[in-house]
Amino acid sequence: MDLHIQNVIKNYGAVKALDNVSLNIPHGSLVCFLGPSGCGKTTLLRSVAGLEDIDSGQIMLGDADLSRTPARSRNFGVVFQSYSLFPHMTAARNIAYGLECRSWTKAQIATRVREMLELVHLSDQAEKLPAQMSGGQQQRIAIARALAPNPSLLLLDEPLSALDAKVREELRNEIRALQKRVGITTIMVTHDQEEALAMADVIVVMKDGHIEQTGSPQMLYQQPVTSFVADFIGRMNILPLDKAGGKGLQFADKALKLNHSDAHGSSPVSKVGIRPESISLLPASQAASDDNHFPATIRSQIYLGHISRLEVVPDKRPDVKISVEMHGALNKTGDMPQTGDAVTLHLPAEALRVLA
Ligand SMILES: Nc1ncnc2c1ncn2[C@@H]1O[C@H](COP(=O)(O)OP(=O)(O)OP(=O)(O)O)[C@@H](O)[C@H]1O
Ligand SMILES: [Mg+2]
Repeated sequence: MDLHIQNVIKNYGAVKALDNVSLNIPHGSLVCFLGPSGCGKTTLLRSVAGLEDIDSGQIMLGDADLSRTPARSRNFGVVFQSYSLFPHMTAARNIAYGLECRSWTKAQIATRVREMLELVHLSDQAEKLPAQMSGGQQQRIAIARALAPNPSLLLLDEPLSALDAKVREELRNEIRALQKRVGITTIMVTHDQEEALAMADVIVVMKDGHIEQTGSPQMLYQQPVTSFVADFIGRMNILPLDKAGGKGLQFADKALKLNHSDAHGSSPVSKVGIRPESISLLPASQAASDDNHFPATIRSQIYLGHISRLEVVPDKRPDVKISVEMHGALNKTGDMPQTGDAVTLHLPAEALRVLA
């Protein structure tokens, strides 16, 4: 069943933690709430879980209105950032606990605990206490415990953020594979854009208690609608256009051509963005008079192995620093434009995005 979040408002005193949030979460999908600290991710997750009373709005699972249902009756599995396992119980007992509370029989519990330990590949850790397991193992047990009673929704609040980078990446893939196998609708809170891009079917970008944009990872990366989203997911050059001279868009004393589909009807365009990897650099004076080609100068370059990152300044707009990323077999001895070199900067029309 799909989860529908409708017009949810939650205030803490004067703080608008959730400012009229609406969202549909399709059955079986993994959705990430992504945004900076304090934007309302945890509040939204806790509201769905029933751990927070909302001021107004509705939370529906299919046709059932859960807005006033207490957390324990929602049958959702929840995992938090810090290890929330019972420290005095073994891994197996941690998983069994919720099932005992639900009056499962001993035989049912034994079978289920075995299944869950297999699911998270920790059958050999059944008798260990949390303190005897690594952080990654503890989080896998926490997920097994959350999934054991067959919840209709799995809610994860930054489950990986306390782990070191390598374990985080492994567990990211493992959780995603496990979620697909079980087919459970999952919401995961994160402030790590890479984690969201790697794991989610749908990313919900939040800011100041509201949703900025919702979409697939590809859509948010390729078609961000606001400069906040553009800059939060990946890196984006924001081009301040020349003060309106004639008609059309002007940048660095030239008309800037956009693709028609991106020119947003009649509303005036104030900001245009382009990803660093979508820009190309040509030898100076080559094609310099063509559309969207600008004479420019390299201000700096950093060699990073798999890419090089250059800062380029258009000659007619020395106030604008444009970040360019170049891939391929680049080296430090001449294949690359060097600091101080004159170049032609090409901003392809199809890569330019109009931003609100
Ligand atoms: N119990 C509370 N009492 C008062 N204010 C709160 C409470 N919980 C959250 N807030 C406020 O509500 C806003 C949203 O908080 P929330 O915890 O949802 O943010 P978040 O996006 O999860 O941030 P983080 O990435 O730091 O975890 C913040 O301004 C926060 O200070
Ligand atoms: Mg939080």
